[in-house]
Amino acid sequence: MALFEVRGVRKVFGRNVVLDGLDLDIFKGEVVTIIGESGSGKSILLKALMGLIEIDAGTIRFDDEVVSDASEKEWTQIRRRIGMLFQESALFDSLSVYENVAYALREQTDMPEEEIARQVAETLTLVGLPGIEEMWPADLSGGMRKRVALARAVAVRPETVFYDEPAEGLDPINVTRVNRLLLGLQESLNVTSVVVTHNLKAAFRISDRLVLIHDGKVVATGTPESFLDSQDPIVREFIGERMRRVLLAS
Ligand SMILES: Nc1ncnc2c1ncn2[C@@H]1O[C@H](COP(=O)(O)OP(=O)(O)O)[C@@H](O)[C@H]1O
Ligand SMILES: [Mg+2]
Repeated sequence: MALFEVRGVRKVFGRNVVLDGLDLDIFKGEVVTIIGESGSGKSILLKALMGLIEIDAGTIRFDDEVVSDASEKEWTQIRRRIGMLFQESALFDSLSVYENVAYALREQTDMPEEEIARQVAETLTLVGLPGIEEMWPADLSGGMRKRVALARAVAVRPETVFYDEPAEGLDPINVTRVNRLLLGLQESLNVTSVVVTHNLKAAFRISDRLVLIHDGKVVATGTPESFLDSQDPIVREFIGERMRRVLLAS
């Protein structure tokens, strides 16, 4: 059984048909990466999976419940089970690292302060930044900010983590770091990871399965290896011959 089951999802902005009868299953415990041209609807799909936008047609099931018609109040409950690393890893600049990471714990649980402190410390350790509770967002490098944002997203130990362009704006060392971290969390927290990226190298390195969106639909899905072997013209054109050779060699 799929954790998320997306059927016939349509999303239109004016005359722009972004998702056009999209079907997708996401399975528990996998790292699945959604790839596609810029503007192909990857971020919109993630937002639909979190109930942050309304879809025009189709259904989304999460853990066997139809959620696409859920009320805002119900979505608030559902979202507690999903951590999200947004494209702009916006931290609250007026809050310390401690308060940033503690945020969802305060909002969503009634943990006593002692326990919050323990969970914050443990989560910062998990992202490789132990002991920086007293620092402020302004003191952090881009890579550190991203990792604190990730700590904030997983502080409540969600079952599923969404990553929208986790490599965006990071130098190669931090891209590698964030990718390792994602895989580490996968192992230590046993989460389901849904990644959106246009960084093909990263996608190939971290994913159990790739999903290619084109013209509002899923046109191909499979292991990274199967994408490299694919004879499908859409897949081949998306990856490109040069990148294909780079990926085959790596
Ligand atoms: N709030 C919005 N209003 C109108 N159009 C939007 C809105 N959000 C996204 N779009 C359009 O939807 C399409 C898909 O966007 P998006 O999902 O962000 O693409 P990407 O695959 O790059 O993440 C784009 O054409 C974008 O302009
Ligand atoms: Mg996007």
